[in-house]
Amino acid sequence: MLKIIEKHRQDFDSRIRSTSTPEHLKQLRIDFLGKKGCVQALMKDLRQATPEEKRQLGKLINDFKQYVENLLSEKEEGLGKSSKDQSSKGESFDTTLPGKKETTGTLHPITQVMEEIKTIFLGLGFQVEEGPEIETDYYNFEALNIPKDHPARDMQDTFYVDGDAVLRTHTSPVQIHVMENREPPLRIIAPGKVYRCDSDVSHTPMFHQIEGLMVDENVSFSHLKGIMSIFLQEVFGKETKVRFRPSFFPFTCPSAEVDIQCVICRGKGCRVCSQTGWVEILGAGMVDPAVFKCVDYDSEKWTGFAFGLGIERISMLKYGINDIRLFFENDLRFLKQF
Ligand code: FA5
Repeated sequence: MLKIIEKHRQDFDSRIRSTSTPEHLKQLRIDFLGKKGCVQALMKDLRQATPEEKRQLGKLINDFKQYVENLLSEKEEGLGKSSKDQSSKGESFDTTLPGKKETTGTLHPITQVMEEIKTIFLGLGFQVEEGPEIETDYYNFEALNIPKDHPARDMQDTFYVDGDAVLRTHTSPVQIHVMENREPPLRIIAPGKVYRCDSDVSHTPMFHQIEGLMVDENVSFSHLKGIMSIFLQEVFGKETKVRFRPSFFPFTCPSAEVDIQCVICRGKGCRVCSQTGWVEILGAGMVDPAVFKCVDYDSEKWTGFAFGLGIERISMLKYGINDIRLFFENDLRFLKQF
């Protein structure tokens, strides 16, 4: 009987090794574990054995049965896995179906316009400078010739932080920081966030400005006009008309507000330009000698111009947007268009 069990084991080992399909495996299971299989046949033969032999041989037959079951299960698992792999390899798919698109973010429209403006001024020889968003009263107002209690402070509704600190209401304080630390000649722009207690379709409590400052010998108003015209025609197109209107800023003299011909109606008059054909785009002027005095520049030797523009206003005109608040609502249907 021992020899017979050993012979069955060798036979099983050789057959399971060469089994490569689920059908063959099924047959192997029937041949060894089925009702008429060899394990059952061994059990039948055991009936004639003595009780002592039954105990010993019964254990050997059970061990063999277990051995067969284990190997069959292992093989079954192996064949199942590889058949899955095979079927996924051979899987057919429709190559004409559109692929899954990776959705990538884009730069916010304000950032895009800001980058475009920076590139124009870098091309004109300006350098980029930065300044703090929380300023002291001195840098935001006094050094810019806006003394305490002067009515000019009402032009910008200010968020006061604590004591002497304010959220900067414009980027003009960067002019002072730069002039305190550098000697002329200089040509800088200072982009950044500014804050005012303001909110309607064309005003938000936080918005972006770009400040510009050029100081050198013999800088005149015509340089300012030339640079502003080149810049605005780069942004809005060569045919865009630019005009300068007299205005007032405490830190420039003479001062001007710069308008462009309305890009929506091309000067005919519409809702956006309040039927005037022109839209105000920035403030500018020649640096006031009182500002030069604050930073110890000799105003007999040096002259300069400065300008400050609102990025949101420029973006609104560039893209025909009629409510400034759309920029900050984070509505993807709006933002995806840029
Ligand atoms: C100033 O802020 C001056 N510092 C500009 C300047 C710089 C003049 C250097 C001369 C020399 P003003 O307050 O006009 O100026 O603001 C400039 C621009 O900021 C405006 O033309 C407008 O485009 C934009 N702006 C002002 N308030 C808001 C607001 N609440 N929301 C969005 N844009 C605004």
